[in-house]
Amino acid sequence: MIRRARTPTDMNERDPVPEPGKAAGALHRVYLQPSKLSFLASEADDLLAAATQAGIAVPFACRNGVCELCEARLIDGTALNTRNQQTLSPATRLMLCRTQARSSLELEIEAVMAAGQTTPREFQANVVGVHSISHDVYRVELQLPRRRELEFHAGQYLSVVLPDAEPCYFSIASSPLDQHLELHIQASPDWVSAQRVVDALKSGQAVTLQLPHGHACLAAAPEKPLVMVAAGTGFAQMKSMVDYLRTTNSEQPVSLFWGVRRLEDMYLRSLAQQWHETWPPFTFIPVVGDDEDNDWSGHHDQLVGSVLATRSDWSDVQVMASGSPTMVYTLMDALVEAGLPAGAFLSDVLEYAPR
Ligand code: FES
Repeated sequence: MIRRARTPTDMNERDPVPEPGKAAGALHRVYLQPSKLSFLASEADDLLAAATQAGIAVPFACRNGVCELCEARLIDGTALNTRNQQTLSPATRLMLCRTQARSSLELEIEAVMAAGQTTPREFQANVVGVHSISHDVYRVELQLPRRRELEFHAGQYLSVVLPDAEPCYFSIASSPLDQHLELHIQASPDWVSAQRVVDALKSGQAVTLQLPHGHACLAAAPEKPLVMVAAGTGFAQMKSMVDYLRTTNSEQPVSLFWGVRRLEDMYLRSLAQQWHETWPPFTFIPVVGDDEDNDWSGHHDQLVGSVLATRSDWSDVQVMASGSPTMVYTLMDALVEAGLPAGAFLSDVLEYAPR
């Protein structure tokens, strides 16, 4: 029997009374430590499915007890190992995807997060590498000594906090399941704030990050086909989500439109092409302007036109967009007019540059 004070999460919820005709105790509350999250699990469902259904993001890949990404430790309560039908008792290590509740449970599991939970915290990060991958984009790899304490969703972003400077915001380009953090930073000597960040990272000194930020992200695999539209280094946000979906073996169709002004700006085109060739649910559509035309609005039209041309029914897809406010709002207006429900369009631009 678990006895402890209820968490704020619990206080908004009341455990449902079993329906008439259903066995009492068929539903059990599962408490997670140290996150203090909780969810209800039916005896018929595995704990991974129940947590995901409750909007709690748990790392997983195989759903079969093999990858060990969903590992937890049973602190209190009784559970069933569905692989060998053995009863689990406290102090046992278990896989959420292979466990059903037989009583209220208390589990210890580190890397979980409630959907939409985005309280940013500061972390110190060590710089593993800063590599120039195009004429003006750097691929940065960071390592966090307290990585196990960091939780974020695929598609969220962070800020780099330098002394005596405004925070600089960058999409996280790596999956939440990766050990390192990856950033794609576009910088040049006349882009002072970004160049200052690159110079600081190149110095080899530890840097202060604040994260996670943003609600345009994936807390779990999408329930509808996903259309991603990125301009320039907006690709970084999409890469985080693609890496996450590939690792979790999502079968939902994903299309990525990547628009750039010039071919040389498509700094990881070969990677996107490789996903296209090796991951069946994924389609890559590069959209490249021409060298002569530096009018961005023209390229927005070209990118938006490419997206619109791929389907006539927009009523049952989810769209993620990353780029300048002009591009994002041009795209959103065109898609909503074409039948996309407004709530199915997600972009961080809607938060930080509302109109
Ligand atoms: S062990 Fe792989 S998802 Fe549970």
